[in-house]
Amino acid sequence: MKFFLDTADVQELRLGAASGLIDGVTTNPSIMAKTGRPLKEVVQDIVKIVNGPISVETLSEDAEGMVREGKEYAAMHPNIVVKAPLTPEGLKATKALSGEGIKVNVTLCFSAVQALLAAKAGATYISPFIGRVDDVGLDGMQLIRDIAQIYKQYDFKTQILAASIRHPVHVLQSALAGAHVGTLPFKVFQQLYSHPLTTIGLEKFMADWKAAKK
Ligand code: E4P
Repeated sequence: MKFFLDTADVQELRLGAASGLIDGVTTNPSIMAKTGRPLKEVVQDIVKIVNGPISVETLSEDAEGMVREGKEYAAMHPNIVVKAPLTPEGLKATKALSGEGIKVNVTLCFSAVQALLAAKAGATYISPFIGRVDDVGLDGMQLIRDIAQIYKQYDFKTQILAASIRHPVHVLQSALAGAHVGTLPFKVFQQLYSHPLTTIGLEKFMADWKAAKK
């Protein structure tokens, strides 16, 4: 399973990259807005920090505008993946961009039939938002399982990118369900390392070692 960081915070990305375990980055307009900086400037920073797919979302409402923006993003760096929304216009843009060899991450997916449409449009990644599905009282993880089953059945190459991850159990369940990628807030990435028995066990090892050396 690949781990992407779901952030445009340069400090978080540096720390994530230093771990050696981060395979890519996802952003969205809300994440970009939080930086308070021009989008292209942020993208130029991110590509220097993380060597892997970097999703950058289009801001146009129509397919023509999304394709234009997508081409601009793709021209910035070979690792850029264009992120397009799961709307009729977004999928038209997905089809056009993927037809030209540009990778597209289709975002804001909340149902398995939407994921089927995205795969048919040639998406490289589909982003089901599991946390937001849970928030409305439905089962985000079932969505991942359904998409995995459909993609397997028809041999679609579109990769499932579990998004809107809120805690380590989402990561565990996404991995069990066969998601190819999980995009994680930095805090969740850090939480993955933690286990109380690891902490206690290490303290005991160190204490025993120091006691023996006295
Ligand atoms: C995915 O690419 C999105 O940027 C993200 O995972 C959305 O997460 P949220 O529901 O926590 O905003």
